[in-house]
Amino acid sequence: MARCCSRATSRFTHEVHKGFSKIPVSTVWMCFCLLFLSAAEAGLYSASDQIILLSKETVEPVLVNSTAALVVEFYASWCGHCISFSPVYRSLARDIAEWKTAVDLAAIDCAERANKRVCNEYQVTGYPTLKFFHAYSKPGALGQSFKGFSRDIMGLRHKIIDKLESHGELWPPACPPLEPISQAELESFFETISVRHLALIFEMNDSYVGREVTLDLLHFENIEVRRVLSTEVGLVTKLGVTDFPSCYLYYPGGNFTKLKVNIEARVFYSYALKRLPGVVRSGKPPPVIKDVHTNSTEEPWRPFNSSRVYMADLESTLHYSLRVELSAHPVIRGQALRALKMYISVLVKYFPGRPIVMNLLKAVNSWLKQSSSEVSYEELSAILDNTAQSPDTALPDGVRWVACQSSQPHLRRYPCGVWTLFHVLTVQAYNNHSTDPEEVLSAMRNYVHSFFGCRQCAEHFENMARESILEVNTLMSAVMWLWSRHNRVNNRLAGALSEDPNFPKIQWPSPDMCPSCHTVKPNGDHRWNNDRVFPFLLSFFSSSSILPDYLESEDHVLEKQRQKHADRQQALQAQKHERKIREAAGSITDPPPSPPAVQEEEEEEVEEEEGPQDEAVANMRQEDGEAAEMETKPTPWSKLEMNVGRRQQRGHGRRSIVGMKMRELPEDIVDLDSFVNQHYKAKALQLAAARVRQRSLQRKEEQEPGPVLGLGLELDVGLGMVGLQPMNERIEQRRKRELTGQYFEEEAELNHRGRWMMSVLSIGFSKVDISLCVILYFLSCMCLLAMYLFFKNRLRLRRVKVSLT
Ligand SMILES: Cc1cc2nc3c(=O)[nH]c(=O)nc-3n(C[C@H](O)[C@H](O)[C@H](O)COP(=O)(O)OP(=O)(O)OC[C@H]3O[C@@H](n4cnc5c(N)ncnc54)[C@H](O)[C@@H]3O)c2cc1C
Ligand SMILES: *[C@@H]1O[C@H](CO)[C@@H](O)[C@H](O)[C@H]1NC(C)=O
Ligand SMILES: *[C@@H]1O[C@H](CO)[C@@H](O)[C@H](O)[C@H]1NC(C)=O
Ligand SMILES: *[C@@H]1O[C@H](CO)[C@@H](O)[C@H](O)[C@H]1NC(C)=O
Repeated sequence: MARCCSRATSRFTHEVHKGFSKIPVSTVWMCFCLLFLSAAEAGLYSASDQIILLSKETVEPVLVNSTAALVVEFYASWCGHCISFSPVYRSLARDIAEWKTAVDLAAIDCAERANKRVCNEYQVTGYPTLKFFHAYSKPGALGQSFKGFSRDIMGLRHKIIDKLESHGELWPPACPPLEPISQAELESFFETISVRHLALIFEMNDSYVGREVTLDLLHFENIEVRRVLSTEVGLVTKLGVTDFPSCYLYYPGGNFTKLKVNIEARVFYSYALKRLPGVVRSGKPPPVIKDVHTNSTEEPWRPFNSSRVYMADLESTLHYSLRVELSAHPVIRGQALRALKMYISVLVKYFPGRPIVMNLLKAVNSWLKQSSSEVSYEELSAILDNTAQSPDTALPDGVRWVACQSSQPHLRRYPCGVWTLFHVLTVQAYNNHSTDPEEVLSAMRNYVHSFFGCRQCAEHFENMARESILEVNTLMSAVMWLWSRHNRVNNRLAGALSEDPNFPKIQWPSPDMCPSCHTVKPNGDHRWNNDRVFPFLLSFFSSSSILPDYLESEDHVLEKQRQKHADRQQALQAQKHERKIREAAGSITDPPPSPPAVQEEEEEEVEEEEGPQDEAVANMRQEDGEAAEMETKPTPWSKLEMNVGRRQQRGHGRRSIVGMKMRELPEDIVDLDSFVNQHYKAKALQLAAARVRQRSLQRKEEQEPGPVLGLGLELDVGLGMVGLQPMNERIEQRRKRELTGQYFEEEAELNHRGRWMMSVLSIGFSKVDISLCVILYFLSCMCLLAMYLFFKNRLRLRRVKVSLT
């Protein structure tokens, strides 16, 4: 959206100079931008940073009556201090991402003209200014400025805790108590609160560790954390505490054990406490014991060692990527073709696969090298299935997930495999002394950009790459870059609906996987020991430690491929035979089936004219039957985003007619792997349902007057039936969503919609109105010219007459 808009505005300034005729179009563009660019991504932060992007319209709704306290950064995007502070603020957002429901971070760009007045109203005079707004702030509250705040994360975090504690009556409801617990309170604790684990953090009065861990675990159930001061002599002697800080688990009846951690520090306590039995993220079902899986999914559960990489996952990923994901692109050309070539060439160089798989990849590679400016998926598919029947060449057909197995079919699996695959490839490139440090990452970036079905993921990934991929200048830094960006994604997705409760997103590797990877700074904050992380990654993803368990044997794979080929030949023969008979009989009345690509194109043209609403309705009808089943499932990302992606791609197609048409096949063709289809379909509705549930939970306390978002609207949000809604309603909707804390994902979603709308508008105006304007302009000019000549002639005639007389 931001990109579109900058293009649009620059076009605006351009055209002002050219003439007035085009102003109406440009003005529409401009208004459009002002309306929809409200949360300006053009500023220092983007939707991928876990920061609420405020605008003139959203400031009030977000700040007033919020159930969480808010820290707002007022900045100007041109100000040097703000630019240098932005990485700190971004890291702070990641550092305290788990505190969100108690205290959240927001930012507003005062350099944006539309926001100027708001910043003045909040009496902001210098940039950056940080202000703290209590929960349930009143309209007109100006917030408390952070005076002379430190520019380090720890200092800011402590300041935020101080401010949180200054809440009087109106304590943020999600925020656990932060004050120390006394011995008397402890004795009656289990009488009033039933909780499985009580963690006591013994610390000095000026230490913040206890409060930080309390907030870190605020989204987790079956655990309470309290701080105990070293001056609480009774308790200290009872438990025999000698170190401050230290953490003890305390149970009813006065039993206690010391929590074992490598280093007595915040992050280590949080890691360890989240792993206690029964501790789960609120709202997530408790992890299921592994054996139960056996009957909950179609396939039997494959026990695995989570400290290992399995070749079965990598081959499954290749199968899915090449046979399912790519099949959504009937014709591959331009940038997508370049991306595909890079991807395959990197696989040929570094994939540590079995000989038959490597032979197949090589075949694909040499075929792609000879290809012209475009390839059809059909031809590619023939190579993938080795229809030429080259010996010892095959890619196993189908998926067998092992370390990427999930408790439910729509979680983990393929995206987990994609991560694993590229980690392996970066490590292999390092081990093989590749000459180009960026080779693997560029291949990944381009693949994700052109093909990864989760379009929103692709966008987030592209943001990260654009921001920092230039840092990569050695093979080692490529390995480390991917590891640290993956951790960033883990941080952002912790607690998201796509998280498998059995495989919670952590900052990886955990201290029990690699104790020496973790260390602390002198101030007690966590620090990765990169000198240890790197060797750990090398050994974790090295080709020699990849396990071959659960792989289909090569003979079996080849045999299956032969069988498939024979079947296909037979079918072809039968078809030919039939046609011959028909020709012989002279009954060529029924025309041969038209190629699917052409047919699809026509269909889509129609669909586009009708607008997206019909599509959504159709989807809904399809999905109706699955609604009941969805109720119980958490929500993933894919279908929804595929839809969004499709719309976005269409938008692209519209604007640049020469551009490639990246279009998905109708779903029955993608149905190579029916499971994907099944739950991807279910997803949009699930998301909507889950959001409604979440919303109603949140809303209970808020008791918002007026119409509360109903299921209908939520479904709209989920399925994208937005094109025909009035604009102000949409802004309102966005505002409401921002209140609920779902902004990140939906922000991007809305942007897609904006893009879509823009393309629609550009069509509407550029085709009809521009030409009308030009014609009118031309006509009026001609008219003026004619009048001018007429009067001039008359004047001359008169003058001639006068002179004659
Ligand atoms: C490029 C990309 C972008 C994505 N963006 C989004 C998004 O925006 N929104 C969304 O909902 N989902 C996104 N996903 C999917 C998401 O990241 C997960 O892949 C998915 O939720 C499955 O998670 P998982 O639990 O299997 O672990 P994954 O994150 O998939 O990790 C797979 C395995 O890699 C190992 N691992 C974990 N962390 C690291 C690390 N830092 N370094 C090395 N190895 C590690 C672990 O063994 C783990 O089991 C994206 C995926 C990809 C490939
Ligand atoms: C804020 O909440 C209070 C009570 O909960 C309510 O009276 C007031 O109208 C709300 N204000 C706004 C602006 O929503
Ligand atoms: C799961 O299925 C297996 C057979 O596949 C069966 O032996 C077992 O009892 C089943 N478990 C449950 C809990 O139903
Ligand atoms: C899992 O793999 C790690 C690393 O190779 C090994 O140390 C550990 O013993 C394995 N665990 C099991 C249960 O096999």
